[in-house]
Amino acid sequence: MAFSSSLLISQVLFFFLVSLSSWTSATSTIQQTFFRCLSTNSMNSVPLSSYYTPYNVSSFTSVLNSTATNFRYLLPTVPKPVIIFTPLSEAHVQATVLCSRQFGLALRVRSGGHDYEAVSYVSQIESPFIVLDLAHLRAIQVDIPRGTAWAQAGATVGEVYYRIAEKSKVHGFPMGVWTSLGIGGHITGGAYGSMMRKFGLGADNVLDVRMVGSKGKILDRKAMGEDLFWALRGGGGGSFGIILAWKLKLVNVPETVTVFTVTKSLEQGATKLLYKWQQVAPKLDDRLFLRVIIQASSANLTANRTVATSYNALFLGDPNTLLGIMGKRVPKLGLTLADCIKMSWIRSVLYMAGYPNNTTREVLLQGKSLFRTYYKAKSDFVRTPIPEKGLLGLQKIYFEEEIPFMIWTPYGGAMARVPESATPFPHRHGTLFKIQYLVSWQDGTKNMARHMSWIRKLYDYMGPYVSKNPREAYVNYRDLDLGMNKKGVNSLTEASSWGLKYYKSNFYRLVQVKAKVDPDNFFRHEQSIPPLPVKRGSKGVLMG
Ligand SMILES: Cc1cc2nc3c(=O)[nH]c(=O)nc-3n(C[C@H](O)[C@H](O)[C@H](O)COP(=O)(O)OP(=O)(O)OC[C@H]3O[C@@H](n4cnc5c(N)ncnc54)[C@H](O)[C@@H]3O)c2cc1C
Ligand SMILES: *[C@@H]1O[C@H](CO)[C@@H](O)[C@H](O)[C@H]1NC(C)=O
Ligand SMILES: *[C@@H]1O[C@H](CO)[C@@H](O)[C@H](O)[C@H]1NC(C)=O
Ligand SMILES: *[C@@H]1O[C@H](CO)[C@@H](O)[C@H](O)[C@H]1NC(C)=O
Ligand SMILES: *[C@@H]1O[C@H](CO)[C@@H](O)[C@H](O)[C@H]1NC(C)=O
Ligand SMILES: *[C@@H]1O[C@H](CO)[C@@H](O)[C@H](O)[C@H]1NC(C)=O
Ligand SMILES: *[C@@H]1O[C@H](CO)[C@@H](O)[C@H](O)[C@H]1NC(C)=O
Repeated sequence: MAFSSSLLISQVLFFFLVSLSSWTSATSTIQQTFFRCLSTNSMNSVPLSSYYTPYNVSSFTSVLNSTATNFRYLLPTVPKPVIIFTPLSEAHVQATVLCSRQFGLALRVRSGGHDYEAVSYVSQIESPFIVLDLAHLRAIQVDIPRGTAWAQAGATVGEVYYRIAEKSKVHGFPMGVWTSLGIGGHITGGAYGSMMRKFGLGADNVLDVRMVGSKGKILDRKAMGEDLFWALRGGGGGSFGIILAWKLKLVNVPETVTVFTVTKSLEQGATKLLYKWQQVAPKLDDRLFLRVIIQASSANLTANRTVATSYNALFLGDPNTLLGIMGKRVPKLGLTLADCIKMSWIRSVLYMAGYPNNTTREVLLQGKSLFRTYYKAKSDFVRTPIPEKGLLGLQKIYFEEEIPFMIWTPYGGAMARVPESATPFPHRHGTLFKIQYLVSWQDGTKNMARHMSWIRKLYDYMGPYVSKNPREAYVNYRDLDLGMNKKGVNSLTEASSWGLKYYKSNFYRLVQVKAKVDPDNFFRHEQSIPPLPVKRGSKGVLMG
């Protein structure tokens, strides 16, 4: 044993010394031993070209940066991984789990890189850590006769939409509006989009899954059982295993749909209309998704600014039917036939994601995010309409920030018909709409503290108007202000501070599932689900 392993080490060292000129040290580094472990544990060979270390700064930085959307987490002061591995096969993912375990290395998993707090590529609580980036696992197979699709975790929602539309004009899938999201992270947190009022969340339309569990085994729905399968559809990423692929149930869409965007400024009665929208939008025909995007008219604080509210909609039907509904339910918006644009569902995907109307659909295959900057975001759910007085105070705070941004997303319809405990995503019946608050800036750390305190002030201001006990939040809009697992400790009390906001009482069931499938907490990050604390000698009692 001793002989063969030292032989192996010298072979590996030789291999490294000839293949990586920058690694001149004769003692093996963690990067070298980990690579050797991956190679030994993989059925398929591990090419060096998919293995990145800080020894090669340029390729390491570019792969780390490649899908990171929040530049706050690329700053030099932010902890960096010691290895980034981009697996080419499922076996590579399994080997990564086995080797991370063996070396006691903390593991982060990235699919599309849109995590608001970058827990998929930054660990603030443990060092060293490695990043497993699934960017190369993005195959998609669409089966129109069966109405299903298998898509690997590294695929973006835009790629999935594209591959469906390539085969059928009347099929689609209800998940994110933003097309560069990775389905690996996105669907684990729920996944809402323009068809949510008709068909629910992406997570509501998942039929099966392939996942690598904490012991390195590949599990599908049948092998994992219904409890774990439940937890994966809304319980948040990075807690239960590494999703390899989802099996999706396609939905039927009309051959043409209708979209519009109508903008009203304060001077045009935006406040009264917004007050009315809160009562009407969640009760509209399920086929109509009418959201509001709220921005300042200019980023210049000293200019004469106004607040612009853009009513941005997808209707799964024709313009005349839409005009009928709008005329009856929201006449004050003054929608006209000229505002309505008829198009295929796949074009509406591009429209809702904000691409110019001359963009070809192939842009969806590039998987590039249009939004990459410094930002901080938060979320709320609203259960009773915010009075006009509340809206006026909100406008005042808006004028204190250069680039304030909110999206108000209406619920109701299919969202309200799914029971609160059917999936871990609990924001269902009784929710009128969700608010996303976002502040972004380009000048790095210069005014960062001011921007961060502005959004926290806005959030405090909104407290009285939004859901309470708990004040709900969307796990896919991860917000570390809500609390964090601290290094080494995973206390239920600590985790409840954000867990109850994201999952309400489903949190306790998630904790139980976690204790069963990953009792030693291998899959962990700042806001992962903690395993239930086990009393020494007992079989596991829920404490705290
Ligand atoms: C610009 C922008 C627009 C957005 N628009 C929408 C929208 O329209 N609808 C919506 O619902 N949400 C939206 N979001 C939020 C989005 O759903 C989440 O950020 C989601 O987690 C992104 O998934 P990802 O794979 O791209 O991110 P990642 O950063 O790769 O991962 C997010 C989380 O999931 C974990 N994870 C990643 N891959 C896996 C895997 N294979 N297995 C297990 N865990 C994994 C990570 O560890 C991390 O915890 C938006 C976000 C941004 C930045
Ligand atoms: C570093 O990475 C770049 C880009 O991938 C590659 O061209 C170069 O050969 C690498 N350098 C070394 C020393 O491995
Ligand atoms: C990340 O990469 C993009 C694209 O190459 C570049 O524009 C940006 O400056 C990089 N950001 C950071 C913070 O390194
Ligand atoms: C901002 O607006 C003020 C008042 O209109 C103007 O004087 C100033 O030049 C503007 N600043 C910038 C950077 O545009
Ligand atoms: C500010 O703009 C509004 C309309 O955008 C206008 O009615 C108002 O007179 C302007 N005020 C000043 C001081 O320019
Ligand atoms: C595309 O957008 C441009 C500019 O916004 C507009 O003038 C044009 O009418 C649009 N074309 C179509 C087909 O909608
Ligand atoms: C779309 O139109 C704009 C200007 O109207 C142009 O700059 C851009 O190159 C066009 N894009 C494509 C993909 O044709």
